[in-house]
Amino acid sequence: MAIKPVDPFDCIVFGATGDLTLRKLLPALYHRLRDGQIPDDARIIGAARSDFDDKSFRLRATEAIGKHVAKGDLSKPLTEKFAGMIHYARGDAATDGGLEALAKLLNEKRDRIRVFYLATSPDLYGPICNNLQAAGLVTEHSRVVLEKPIGHDLASARQVNDVVGEVFTETQTFRIDHYLGKETVQNLLALRFANVVFERLWNADVIDHVQITVGETVGVEGRGDYYDHSGALRDMVQNHLMQLLCLLAMEPPTSLDANAVRDEKLKVLRSLKPIAPHEVGNITVRGQYSQGAIDGKGVPGYLADLGEGRSSKTETFVALKAEIQNWRWNNVPFYLRSGKRLPQKVSEIVVQFRGAPFNVFTREDAALSPNKLIIRLQPEEGMKLELMTKSPEPGGLHLSPTQLDISFEKAFGTRYPDAYERLLMDSVRGNPTLFMRRDEVEAAWSWVEPIIEAWEESREPPRLYPAGSWGPTSAIALIERDGRTWYEEIR
Ligand code: BG6
Repeated sequence: MAIKPVDPFDCIVFGATGDLTLRKLLPALYHRLRDGQIPDDARIIGAARSDFDDKSFRLRATEAIGKHVAKGDLSKPLTEKFAGMIHYARGDAATDGGLEALAKLLNEKRDRIRVFYLATSPDLYGPICNNLQAAGLVTEHSRVVLEKPIGHDLASARQVNDVVGEVFTETQTFRIDHYLGKETVQNLLALRFANVVFERLWNADVIDHVQITVGETVGVEGRGDYYDHSGALRDMVQNHLMQLLCLLAMEPPTSLDANAVRDEKLKVLRSLKPIAPHEVGNITVRGQYSQGAIDGKGVPGYLADLGEGRSSKTETFVALKAEIQNWRWNNVPFYLRSGKRLPQKVSEIVVQFRGAPFNVFTREDAALSPNKLIIRLQPEEGMKLELMTKSPEPGGLHLSPTQLDISFEKAFGTRYPDAYERLLMDSVRGNPTLFMRRDEVEAAWSWVEPIIEAWEESREPPRLYPAGSWGPTSAIALIERDGRTWYEEIR
């Protein structure tokens, strides 16, 4: 299907020399150009303090494309064309007069769409927005894209939102949670609202519980300074895992209009049962990786990754049990876990259905295992539905669980676009459906804040788990106390 190009735009990336820009944003834009979605006269303007000019920054961008785009998708003429769209505006965007070079470029094309992408430290969001306004660069066709984290807690999130809100309206503000741009995450909407088979069963009558696991094999990878102030709860759960939970649990929206979808997600966040301080120890687990092995290769522990002589109580693993207090989900626990240095990079949602109400196969070799729907977000995006079937051997009706298996790659035989490709184009088009609205971010902070406070007050350090394991044993106990187990497929 031919892709319709978006209108001409200027995409200004603050923090242009940083890892996110080079590893994710530039490759994402390259792919969109390759697919014919970016018009030839669009401009990508890198803004940062480092000493580059157009020529040297284009070189840096070309290197990044060579490194982060798959070989089969690279082409020299296209890379040259892409480099030609790139400009560099040097300056300290957070101080007076720091936007002169940028203003000169932007004022050449005043009427076109401007996407200000803030890939900087969040404490610069306010100063940069204020400066953009003071320099007269915020036009009616401008939008701002904010990377997470939005704040460090509820109060700081409100503060960031207030400052940004003085310059950009809510409809001009695009708060990124890149999980929402992942293909399979969008597929959750299709699974639920474009099919009838699951939605009729999507409730506490039929579903026993839900698990959401986001595991990573990497450690803190040189981001120790940021990560040690954040930890897994702030870095992954408050945003990515809670957004997944919202899409899975929300009521059908009245349409796919941005506010209709976000209203429903917000209702889920507001229905989450608040966690009282005395419950935190029972229904949350925090862990920190120690030395271990991943894929048979020894890896250091978190403290060694931070640097010699460092001590830290920051969690690199979280498991918790959440409950949604509404008619649909009453008494259906949602078990969430996420961690670094786990045995596999895997993001998946497991919907565990209840068992059959009565077993007619009692005279056969037939313990019935309840149905399971496994939605794999990465890697190998797809869905599996575990069903009981008769196995073909003779001598009676022997049953065994079998999987209906849809691999999206096999089904569509195409490259899966990176989340940033979709989100960047949505910000140009001005479609905020897959971005977080202010009230969602704040509601998510309100729910996690008591956990953060209880952990801070507790004298107990996080439980250690060896790198390459599925977290501390207390995470297993968390779910097994309820008579359930974590789903872990041997891959
Ligand atoms: C980011 C976190 O938001 O998501 C990182 O800050 C994490 O710590 C990353 O590694 C995981 O994203 P993905 O797309 O690789 O699952």
